[in-house]
Amino acid sequence: MNEELKIPAHVAIILDGNGRWAKKRGLPRPMGHKEGCKTVEKCVEWAARLGIRYLTVYGFSTENWKRDSEEVSALMTLFRFYMRRLLVIAKDNNVRVRMIGDLSKFTEDIQNGIRRLERETGDNTGLTFVIAVNYGARDEMRRAVKKIAEKVRAGEMSPEDVTEEMISGQLDTAEFPDPDLLIRTGGELRLSNYLLWQCAYTEFYVTDVLWPDFSNEELVKAIESFNKRERRYGGVLS
Ligand code: IPE
Ligand code: IPE
Ligand code: MG
Repeated sequence: MNEELKIPAHVAIILDGNGRWAKKRGLPRPMGHKEGCKTVEKCVEWAARLGIRYLTVYGFSTENWKRDSEEVSALMTLFRFYMRRLLVIAKDNNVRVRMIGDLSKFTEDIQNGIRRLERETGDNTGLTFVIAVNYGARDEMRRAVKKIAEKVRAGEMSPEDVTEEMISGQLDTAEFPDPDLLIRTGGELRLSNYLLWQCAYTEFYVTDVLWPDFSNEELVKAIESFNKRERRYGGVLS
């Protein structure tokens, strides 16, 4: 690896292609998700070792409930299991875990698991690992707008107080910086309702590699590509 490589502070990932990975092998889709969970575990360690400060992965979207009930329930089972595994991995790697999305839609035991994971890793000072579950950027913005409208109605603020910073502050990601690099595996060239507000100036990297096959080498390749980008934020470089 190039020693001079600039490591992005915040890497966001759309981990796609679990289903296709399974299909290619004649396996049921949940087997792809199981393998994908193992890759998530490893990815947390690679990111921590590379010195990435924030890693945000898209685990389950507000639209993924449309999938057949067998697949959804397999995903929930995996979620329960991996939350427990993650507790160990987070402790071993000094990782702080946070969840974003509308968590109220999950069963009580999953919500308890989430609270426990966040509480018990809350003081870790290394990588912040953010998992987006039942997350949709439009739903996140809807919830933020609702909170702002309620504050105005209660007389706590006026419409003039609505700034970009205050909107960012009402989103699920309020405590995190915007992503510098967004990686999508599985080759699709779309955002699929992920971090729409936060990715205004994020650099995109898409690979055809399916998520279960993603590796540390692939992550480094994405970071190398990021290093070649010229971020202008609408300005002109001198
Ligand atoms: C991504 O893999 C994981 C989730 C959306 C939960 P997919 O399940 O979307 O895999 P493909 O896109 O069908 O291959
Ligand atoms: C995005 O992948 C959601 C997650 C990775 C959790 P999808 O597979 O749901 O996205 P589309 O349907 O291809 O846009
Ligand atoms: Mg997909």
